[in-house]
This record gives sequence, C-alpha cells and structure tokens, in this order.
Amino acid sequence: MHFEKMETCLHPNIKIDNLLPEIGKKEVIKKILAGLTCKNKYISSIFLYDEKGSRLFEEITRLPEYYIPRIEKSLIRNAATYLNDWLQNVNIVEYGCGDCSKISILLESISTENLNTVCYTPVDVSHSAILESANILLNNFCGLRIHIVLADFVKQVGLIPGAGRRIFCLFGSTIGNLTREQALRFCKNVAGIMRPNDLFLLGMDMVKSREILFKAYNDSLNITSEFNRNILNVVNKLIGTDFDPRSFEHLAFFNEEKARIEMHLRAKKDIDTFSPYCSKKITIKKGETIHTENSHKFTNEHIKELAKTAGFEIQEIFTDEHNWFSLVLFSKYNQELPYHV
Ligand code: AVJ
Repeated sequence: MHFEKMETCLHPNIKIDNLLPEIGKKEVIKKILAGLTCKNKYISSIFLYDEKGSRLFEEITRLPEYYIPRIEKSLIRNAATYLNDWLQNVNIVEYGCGDCSKISILLESISTENLNTVCYTPVDVSHSAILESANILLNNFCGLRIHIVLADFVKQVGLIPGAGRRIFCLFGSTIGNLTREQALRFCKNVAGIMRPNDLFLLGMDMVKSREILFKAYNDSLNITSEFNRNILNVVNKLIGTDFDPRSFEHLAFFNEEKARIEMHLRAKKDIDTFSPYCSKKITIKKGETIHTENSHKFTNEHIKELAKTAGFEIQEIFTDEHNWFSLVLFSKYNQELPYHV
C-alpha cells in the first residue's frame, strides 16, 4: 500500500523505464540446483546481494583493508576535475549503481546553474535501491533529471536510451565479477552503442601483491566471511534447503594464473540436505567447496588489450601512486578520425 503510494508520488524529475525480462522463479531455482548438484559446485555471485548481503557489502566498503572504494573515490574526484568543462548538456549513464556516493562526486563538480542540463541514468536491477538513491540525489542536486532504467546491464547494454552526449560509467571494479569473455563482450557492446563524442569511465582493480589482495578479502573483522556465508541464507529462502552457514568456512585466495580473487565456501563436515524442488538429495562432503565469486584483477596490458579488442581509444588513466586501482576513460575508436595518428 505504502509502496504504491510512493509510485504515484514520483518526483517530477524522475522517470522510470522497466526493461527487465520476467525471469521466472522456476528458472532461478533450476540454476541454483544445477550448481549444487554438479561436480565443481558453485552459486552465482548475484545471490550474494539480498538485503542483508547488500548491508554487509556496505560494511566491507568501510573496512580499512578493502582499499577499493577509498582509492576509487579519490580517482573519481580527479576525473571530475579533468571532465569539468565537458560535464554539461550530458547524460550520465551508470551501470550497476548501488548507492549514490560515487556518482555524487561527479555531480558535485557541476555548477548549480548547469545541473538542469544534466540527466543521470542509473541502470540496475533493484527497483527499491535505485529509487531510494534517486530521491537522495534530488535532495542534494536540485534541477537534476533522473531517468531510471531497470535492466540487467550485462545482458541489456544495447537497450539503454539517451539522446545527446553521454558518459557511461561502471565503478567498483564490478567488471571484475564477469569472466574475461563476458567483460570483453560487455565492453564491445558499450563501444557498439557509443557515438564519437561519448565517453566510458571504467573502474578496474589492478593486480598487486598477494598479501594486500588476501587481506582485502580476508578482513580481520570477518565481515567478508559473513557476507560470503550469507549466500546460503539466500539459497535457503529460494530453494527451501536448510544449509547452516556455520557449517562452512570462508575461503578467499588469489588465483595467480587467472589473476583473480576466488571466493569459496568449504564444508566443515558432511552435509545432506533436501530441496522440495529436487528429487535428488543434495550432498556435500567434508572439505568440498562451493565457488561463490570471482573478482578479476587487471594489468596495464589487460587495459590496453581490452581497449584494442573492444574498439576504444584510451583518453586517460587515473590511478593512485601504487597503481592499485585504475579508473580508465575511454572514447570510441574511430577509424576515420584517429585521435593519435
Ligand atoms: C562489488 C564485486 C567489486 O569483487 O571486490 C567484496 C565484491 N566480494 N568482497 C569485489 C566483494 C568480497 C566486490 N565487487
């Protein structure tokens, strides 16, 4: 009731487009069951983010060991300065936005008179989170227009509307959660919809010492462990199992060969459970692991390679003194009008 009321009282500067396909609950259940009954067990990392998971992730972003948000925010500040003259009469498209702290840094650099020439287009799957952020932004940035697009940004990049000049943003090294092939396909799709004057700002976490990476995903307060194990609560709700998260330990390590952090859950004892949606018992042996997340890290070679294959020109790389994180500004590579001959 209360929610319906909110819908009808949408702020006049907010517009919502829902492009989400109706994914049946059945499909979700099938997907989870497939991952829990095969040989190398896995649960897709998208199931990490229920309400509790999102809250725990927010706690992670405040941990001193989890350096990503701290460094990235300072780099967004540098990018905002660099883009200062450019950031007017523009549509800022942010993929997978979550909270609004990062986009706020870009918006803060725009003068009050220019705010009404700017449209912010957040693209995400979570209706409630995105609407909450939009309302906060409108309180802080008067005159800004917000065009919410509910969509799966990985699968639906091409559907994003918007006339005029655009800057596409993907922060947080969210791109690292995709496989290398998915990441490349995503970038190719972004390049495909970009026009010559558009820009793409991409946050990428860099390969660095094992110790620093290890600590970032094995924090001393065990928040990451709780975040990882919470995926089992989400699974229980979705497929009716009774996994006890306490029967699993958090495992996160750097896979050097694949240049990625892998998160797994390791069973501390033999586990037998049952889902009403599956005729087979689900059995997990003591010591067996369930793969829950990949977080790919990048090198400067990766960045150059990605730009070349996807069809981008690198305009600027903002990075910190140790090159722990890179915020890369791309434009579309244009064969007829090369920027550098
Ligand atoms: C939000 C996907 C970028 O991979 O660093 C944090 C998620 N997982 N700690 C990341 C995460 C464990 C995070 N991303």
